Amino acid sequence: MNKVLVIGSGGREHALSWRLKQSLGVSQIFCASGNAGIAQDVTCVNLAAHDEIVKFCHKENISLVVIGPEQPLVDGLADILQAENIPVFGCSKKAARLEGSKIFMKDLCKKYNIPTAAYGSFSDKQEAINFLEGKNFPIVVKADGLAAGKGVFIAENKKDAIEAVENMFSGEFGTAGSRIIIEEFLDGVEASFFALCDGKKAVEFSYAQDHKRAYDGDKGPNTGGMGTYSPAPVVTDEIRKEVMEKIIHPTMAAMEKEGCPFSGVLFAGLMLTKNGAKLLEYNARFGDPETQSLMMRFDGDLFRLLLSCANGTVEEKFISFSKQAAVCVVMAASGYPAAYQKGSIIHGLEKAGAFPNVKIFHAGTAEKDGNIVSVGGRVLGVTALGDNIKEAQHNAYKAVDLIDWKEGFYRRDIAWQAV
Ligand code: AMP
Ligand code: GLY
Repeated sequence: MNKVLVIGSGGREHALSWRLKQSLGVSQIFCASGNAGIAQDVTCVNLAAHDEIVKFCHKENISLVVIGPEQPLVDGLADILQAENIPVFGCSKKAARLEGSKIFMKDLCKKYNIPTAAYGSFSDKQEAINFLEGKNFPIVVKADGLAAGKGVFIAENKKDAIEAVENMFSGEFGTAGSRIIIEEFLDGVEASFFALCDGKKAVEFSYAQDHKRAYDGDKGPNTGGMGTYSPAPVVTDEIRKEVMEKIIHPTMAAMEKEGCPFSGVLFAGLMLTKNGAKLLEYNARFGDPETQSLMMRFDGDLFRLLLSCANGTVEEKFISFSKQAAVCVVMAASGYPAAYQKGSIIHGLEKAGAFPNVKIFHAGTAEKDGNIVSVGGRVLGVTALGDNIKEAQHNAYKAVDLIDWKEGFYRRDIAWQAV
């Protein structure tokens, strides 16, 4: 029997842990550090430093480590585990530059002819400002490094673009903004596309649509994601094929050629334009909250699938999805994505989670005196299945309506594009 360690503490890690637990041949799932909801399904352990993780894996004889978030990938956790002969689902530090450096990603696309927005990259403020001369607006200004999803600014005119450039170079995003990208604004519909990779080969996993804006009608500030649904009808069979052929496979070949083969999950943030699918960004991890919807639909063997990637031969036969649709509604703390309060009690979770086609994934909760309290910005991912998107949406909101949490908010229109 196998033991698995999942690294992370959000809704994505809850969904992965929960689904991994249902794999044949798995005896125990650990999650470091997890949260109050994850602790209801698997064993949470407190491991912070990389050497603590290695020691734990040896002591518990862990068969597979699944790394959820980008930071440990960028910090080289997968390399450390691999050197210790511990199977790991997640890419190397060098491969994680696909997410960790937008300039690395864009230069790779240019060199290997992978469709993405036209761009310039800059480490000098004046050069960046000069580049804006004679350009069309809106235009997009991006910090090179990891900025928790906040390092992207869409400038409507030259004045705003110059201001964004100045802010980035004056340290708004720390060293993440010491180099920047300025790129063409792409018009279209966004989609999240996931491929599983073993270093040489990639296979399609699934796709979803995320809702990035905080409020109904796609209004308000950008967030890490306020809800998702899957499958997304805008991603047609033709587009899936195009994305694998023009974006995913060429990227795998390019990464191998550049000496940093990619293994783990390649998450392409796409803009579906009238000139075809274009790559907005790469992530070297699963999406959150996309993963909540995907795991709800997944009915293959997740453990053996992720292990096959870790072992260098991805086995497509372990991929299987139910014909049903899934919708995930994120409940966030009032104020998110800006400053928010922590510590308010959430009632009604048991009742809301009792529907057979609903699973409440926890993103930012803790247990305090027998209550579940909020400790994060995004706090819950109420996720439901249905025979179609409309029914899944109905089921998700039926559960949301039973959750009594006055200090929280959520969007009422998740999946509106598809119903
Ligand atoms: P990124 O972190 O690069 O995916 O950017 C965050 C969000 O900014 C995306 O999800 C898009 O909504 C938007 N965005 C980024 N780049 C572009 C672009 N070139 N054209 C239009 N919108 C963009
Ligand atoms: N939901 C978008 C992301 O995980 O980056």
